[in-house]
Amino acid sequence: MKTVRSPKELKPYSDSWRLKKLRVAFVPTMGALHDGHISLIKLALEHADKCVVSIFVNPTQFAPHEDFDAYPRTPEQDLEKLKQAGANLVYMPTEAAIYPGGTQSRVSTGPAAEGLESDFRPHFFGGIVNVVARLFDHVRPDLAVFGEKDFQQLMVIKDMVEAEHLPIEIIGAPIIRDEYGLALSSRNAYLSAPELEIARTLNRVLKEADSTKSAETALLEAGFDKVDYVAERWGRRLAAVWIGKTRLIDNRPYP
Ligand code: PAJ
Repeated sequence: MKTVRSPKELKPYSDSWRLKKLRVAFVPTMGALHDGHISLIKLALEHADKCVVSIFVNPTQFAPHEDFDAYPRTPEQDLEKLKQAGANLVYMPTEAAIYPGGTQSRVSTGPAAEGLESDFRPHFFGGIVNVVARLFDHVRPDLAVFGEKDFQQLMVIKDMVEAEHLPIEIIGAPIIRDEYGLALSSRNAYLSAPELEIARTLNRVLKEADSTKSAETALLEAGFDKVDYVAERWGRRLAAVWIGKTRLIDNRPYP
């Protein structure tokens, strides 16, 4: 498993794979990898011959007051996990490699970006399509895998691929949860033991509540400090909630 840091270093790999007519999958991540990320790589390798994984904590999707600096960075453990998972190439670009001429975006978001996360994090999906378009351009994959954990993100990426006519198949991967139903997330590392107990009720409330309104009430009763939203869209019930300084999102099929 090789690690490369620039489009120039990446190109010989993607060129030689394309020449051999191999199918190339791509899994973009921000690192601090857990079993949720690893499941994406396994799924990618079921659909392709080679799997490229990127690790890049993307500054443009964090607002100034958000956790960009504090975001967990565990490169050594990440590389070990990727090797175990059978990834073929790891792309760990520098900020300069991704944003050589500044962070101005070449792409915009479509209708899926409206509402939900955007009501609370207005820059978020703009930053995501900005970086993912650049990563796609560097890796030039045949397919890319995104987790249903970030369901709206998956929909936003599908919009972008369609609007930009990119020849890339987008595959959604099921949410990996712990034994209590908590969706695995790099941000779970921020939770204290009592906060973790509260976090573990989120998925059950989303499953059992009769309405979005009663879900909100139940979440506050369960100990969440704030509910950004509970909503139904794309045949899912989706939520974003706060415990202390940590923001968690989850979703599940609905009804
Ligand atoms: P990150 O939060 O690292 O997530 C990378 C990918 O892993 C995303 O597609 C996400 O949906 C998926 N994922 C995370 N937790 C998961 C879980 N428990 N089960 C299944 N999939 C899970 O999402 C991002 O990074 C960034 O926004 C990125 C797309 C890399 C752009 O910067």
